[in-house]
Amino acid sequence: CKSIAGKSGNQCKYCHTRIYKFELNLRMPETMIIEGETREERYNALLPQLKALVEGETDVLANLGNIIAGLRQAMHFFWIGVYFVKGHELVLGPFQGPIACTRIGFGKGVCGTAWKERKTMIVPDVDQFPGHIACSSSSKSEIVLPGFNKQGDTVFVLDVDSLELNDFNEVDEKYLKEVVKLIAEQIRLNA
Ligand code: SME
Repeated sequence: CKSIAGKSGNQCKYCHTRIYKFELNLRMPETMIIEGETREERYNALLPQLKALVEGETDVLANLGNIIAGLRQAMHFFWIGVYFVKGHELVLGPFQGPIACTRIGFGKGVCGTAWKERKTMIVPDVDQFPGHIACSSSSKSEIVLPGFNKQGDTVFVLDVDSLELNDFNEVDEKYLKEVVKLIAEQIRLNA
């Protein structure tokens, strides 16, 4: 977001990020403004604000924490989080929602399968997915997307869980892929 004019209470006219601090070249959005009836409209409002949120900050954990929190705040999903590939396991990273499983093996559960198969997994009913790992019995459907490094290796997965059955489709996949790109960029910048 390059268009912030900058006093307390101001709002970017393009991405609607609100600003409460504008000092020493530090910009900190106070809140996000997510308008829109449909999920697609909400994703469209969210993405530029997520980009603005991490711009100018170099700490990967801080940025990932804010990306995940922003996604939860905008989309109200039950659980959203990142698992990092560490050796032969996925290890829990920044997340929002109830406490979750810390480690997941290669090919295990939906997350481990997305890692192994290097593709988005949309699971309309987690009870029908063989080997689904139930971190919470409240979770009913799930989407998991892998994120890659420059060499094309999977370095993390983004996992989003819903309380509703059949809550994810190709619209979610399209926009969550953009979030995955943003996360991958942050990880690369810090590699
Ligand atoms: N359900 C996932 C495990 C992670 S939690 O849902 C947060 C899976 O089957 O891989």
